[in-house]
Amino acid sequence: MDVTPTNDADLLEKVINLAKRRGFIFQSADIYGGFRSTYDYGPLGVNMLRNVKHQWWKTMVQMRHDVVGLDAAILSPPAVWAASGHLETFTDPLVDCLKCHGRFREDKIDGVCPSCGSTQFTESRAFNLMFKTQAGPVEGDGATAYLRPETAQGMFTNFNNVLTTSRKKPPFGIAQVGKSFRNEITPQNFVFRTREFEQMELEFFVPPTEADEWYRYWIEQRFNWYLDLGIRPEYLQLHEHAKEDLSHYSRGTTDVEYRYPWGWDELEGIANRGDYDLTQHSNASGVKLEYYDQAANERYTPYVIEPAAGATRAMMAFLLDAYHEDEVEGEVRSVLRLDWRLAPYQVAVLPLSKKPELEGVSEQVLALLQPHFSCDYDITQSIGRRYRRQDEVGTPFCITVDFDSLEDHAVTVRDRDTTLQTRVPIASLLADLRARTNQA
Ligand code: GAP
Repeated sequence: MDVTPTNDADLLEKVINLAKRRGFIFQSADIYGGFRSTYDYGPLGVNMLRNVKHQWWKTMVQMRHDVVGLDAAILSPPAVWAASGHLETFTDPLVDCLKCHGRFREDKIDGVCPSCGSTQFTESRAFNLMFKTQAGPVEGDGATAYLRPETAQGMFTNFNNVLTTSRKKPPFGIAQVGKSFRNEITPQNFVFRTREFEQMELEFFVPPTEADEWYRYWIEQRFNWYLDLGIRPEYLQLHEHAKEDLSHYSRGTTDVEYRYPWGWDELEGIANRGDYDLTQHSNASGVKLEYYDQAANERYTPYVIEPAAGATRAMMAFLLDAYHEDEVEGEVRSVLRLDWRLAPYQVAVLPLSKKPELEGVSEQVLALLQPHFSCDYDITQSIGRRYRRQDEVGTPFCITVDFDSLEDHAVTVRDRDTTLQTRVPIASLLADLRARTNQA
């Protein structure tokens, strides 16, 4: 019986708590009182975040012949951000409360100070979200550098490099996963909006006449990616931006939205950026960023369709969506019903007792599975407690090695979702787990 909290505030609190308690996500620098809005990913979190990024890369790069990868620098010179438009327009409206001097994003507070309730504010001013720093020991304009606020610009500035070295032609894409930084005025909701985060972005270059078709194509692909990885369909929706809300570069943007505990909000944005970026960088650098179509003997600037997702934000949505409480043998258990591809550990090997004979067989089972699955090995506490611990962090399969295993060379496989237990010969354990995870 499902007894998952229906109260959204409870759900958010429970998931944040679980993430901290079980080593998914820690407050950064917490021995110094924490550093606001920065987080560290612990032993389970780093596994899960890597799985999210791996699944994205697999779908977007590995399984396609028309997309190649890139890993560009995080530090970049002002020229890039002047051309991209970020220096001028990548701003949020900032106001100060005249009573308590708190600083807020004007568009997020409905005219009332969230700290003291006052309605008196300074005039709003444009606050640039980019982190500015200095490269090298010399101060001054020549040394200014920015931490990238999106990975996208690396794909545009490398357009010619990738085109000539990969021999691709439009329609083709460049994909990148990596850190981005924004000096958000109001970071909030755990890792939903932070100042340092990870993005997974594709810039897909197409002939201008095909832009609309590819825009629709990528909206559908990206929506289905979340469904395929287990997000409940009723928690996902598409939201097309009104013309007046579009970013400075966009001719059309549709968000994939998730129903978070605080309501529908962005998970990923898919934009038709037109020829804005390649044209801007061509003009600013003096290097033409175009495609020469030999067959038609014509040069053109491709349009860009951009599915831009957040890896850390997606991980949070997957955690929220997977969190359930149900009743097993009269006790409430919390369980993360994560898709096996995302689970921090896919298999846990559990010797029934600490007897050396059992540990010996367990270590053999572990060695058999480790090349194929991410495995935990747990010998502490009762077997019931260990099952609960694995359920709580989303491990889909527990393998118990007991005294019978020494005689029958078989183990018990327990399924996280059904709690059903099956006896499986060790000789066919790998094949059994592959079948359970739909792998040939
Ligand atoms: N290149 C286009 C671009 O960066 P965006 O909508 O600003 O578009 C894309 O960002 C995605 O990056 C968002 O949908 C979100 O998942 C993630 N993201 C953006 N800002 C974030 C933040 N401050 N914290 C966590 N994730 C963020």
